[in-house]
Amino acid sequence: TAASGPYADRFGGQLVLVTGAAGGIGRATAYAFAEAGARIVAVDRDAEGAARTAEMARLIGAPKAWAETVDVSDEQEMEKLAEKVATEYGIVDVLVNNAGIGLSGSFLDTTPEDWKKVLDVNLWGVIHGCRLFGRQMADRGQGGHIVNTASAAAYQPSRALPAYSTSKAAVLMLSECLRAEFAGQGIGVSAICPGFVNTSITSTARFAGVSADEEKRRQQKTARLYGLRNYPPEKVADAVLKAVVRNQAVVPVTPEARGAHFLS
Ligand code: NAI
Repeated sequence: TAASGPYADRFGGQLVLVTGAAGGIGRATAYAFAEAGARIVAVDRDAEGAARTAEMARLIGAPKAWAETVDVSDEQEMEKLAEKVATEYGIVDVLVNNAGIGLSGSFLDTTPEDWKKVLDVNLWGVIHGCRLFGRQMADRGQGGHIVNTASAAAYQPSRALPAYSTSKAAVLMLSECLRAEFAGQGIGVSAICPGFVNTSITSTARFAGVSADEEKRRQQKTARLYGLRNYPPEKVADAVLKAVVRNQAVVPVTPEARGAHFLS
């Protein structure tokens, strides 16, 4: 199938690796890059989901698409992935560190184990990706781009999401520091900050000390308040491609991500 869409062939010949590509924003992002002609590496710990994404990416227009089953928080698995990708598929032109998990609950209800889980995936996953693939991009010397999925929670404090918000604030700052370091090497770095997006993360999020019902009510109230229940992941994916094309630094993508606090 020929590439189509607003960025048809804009990414032709490029290799794009997306983590958390088995669902939600990551899958939509993989599809958008596929439409734009890129070869895709769909990475997720969900093997079946990643395989489906890769298959669909080929149908959409990616000349090649592979699925890799990896836990982004696992340093050794990430090292193996980076080696395999460089050897078998090539140097990644665009890296999208998107895998993430949710966790709701007040600070006093959040255990050290919960903190560790969230930081391991949301922050360390991004650190591993940036280190390993950033090194390959820098060594190749032909530039590239890294997109990290942060969140509006990175700069909008919330009683309900202290651990998650802290992990995302760290991702935001890491992105800005890296942007400064990598600028001289032609490697762009963007942080994408969505507000409320319609994906499974809210239903799969774990709850520390808050009942699932309570959490659901809170989210429904938030969604009603802003009328945003249906903000589609595809629109976040569009923002990701635009951020790469325009080399944007920090990109708030939903209306409330640009406005006042909405989570607390
Ligand atoms: P999702 O739950 O639909 O997708 C997340 C994907 O990441 C899943 O496929 C999951 O299997 C994968 N994943 C989780 N932990 C992993 C690990 N350790 N290794 C490999 N893969 C892993 O959720 P969504 O919404 O698409 O989330 C994508 C990113 O967007 C996350 O970083 C999330 O924090 C961020 N985000 C989401 C918002 C929303 O309202 N949905 C708002 C702001 C940011």
